[in-house]
Amino acid sequence: MKRRTFAGIGAGVFLLPLAACGDDSDSGDGGGGDGLVVGFAQVGAESAWRTANSTSVQDAAAADDRIAELKFVDAQQDQEKQIEAVRNFITQQVDVIVLAPVVETGWTDVLQEAADAGIPVVLADRGIEAADEDLYVTRLGSDFVAEGRSAGEWAATTFADDADGTRILELQGTTGSAPANDRKTGFFEVLDAEGLNYEIVDSQSGNFTAEEGKSVMETFITTHGLDGIDLLYAHNDEMGLGAIQAIEEAGFAPGTDIQIIIVDGSKAGFQAGVDGKLNYIVECNPVFGEQLMDVVVQVADGESVEKFTPVEEGVFDATQFEAELPNRQF
Ligand code: AHR
Repeated sequence: MKRRTFAGIGAGVFLLPLAACGDDSDSGDGGGGDGLVVGFAQVGAESAWRTANSTSVQDAAAADDRIAELKFVDAQQDQEKQIEAVRNFITQQVDVIVLAPVVETGWTDVLQEAADAGIPVVLADRGIEAADEDLYVTRLGSDFVAEGRSAGEWAATTFADDADGTRILELQGTTGSAPANDRKTGFFEVLDAEGLNYEIVDSQSGNFTAEEGKSVMETFITTHGLDGIDLLYAHNDEMGLGAIQAIEEAGFAPGTDIQIIIVDGSKAGFQAGVDGKLNYIVECNPVFGEQLMDVVVQVADGESVEKFTPVEEGVFDATQFEAELPNRQF
């Protein structure tokens, strides 16, 4: 598939004069034959969520006749590696670049290079800072602020009668990433709006991994103990599950001695809920590969697309864990 000139991008709904489907006459094509050549710079493989997301995108591309090739790069949670991947996609003259940006800032130069080369960029999953919003066409992924608000609503209701004040530990995702920033914003926005009397006892990054989540919790327990801590808000399953391990190893009962909220909703997360080790799950849905392929083709075909399309997500409390567990896809 051949690209035409990527003639400028602006905010709002986009209309791009891009691909001429089935036209293989231009030189410098990203790939031969019919179908689009798509470059996907993925964050890494830090969580079950991420693995499920990569599988969903790769399977959807392989099954889609409109996609000739998906060039997949695992950036190992390293922005420099993602920037390098995007530059390689530009050199290879792919038709569309899909980027799941590890952090929100630092994208201006490379996205400008993509625009100058006439290659549209679709953000998958995470977003980037508002100042660069003219440099990508659209984002498909979660509303992370809404996820944080959902967690905050449960906490504000659950601890509404806690006269002593609710003492909270927060395990943040990767520093500077959209889900870490937005899940924090949404959560505390609701606690403040609801007038909850709370204290953030500690808030640290566990980089969205089980190892770092466990390590942060171990250090906290060793230094401060866990007495008087009411709630752990973990920005993803892996960090929550790692922390649960640390809590158990220290002789406490997760889900009882300390209430726990996680975000994602993997099988392992739901199983921990069924086992009574956590109390609330905010879903983050990684299975949007087919939807992403539709967006990629729309963008390449020059159709108008919304600036942001949220994926569907739910919330689950302890009364729902067991029934929902068999439905989990990752
Ligand atoms: O960007 C989505 C987040 O990234 C998921 O919540 C987390 O598990 C992943 O690492």
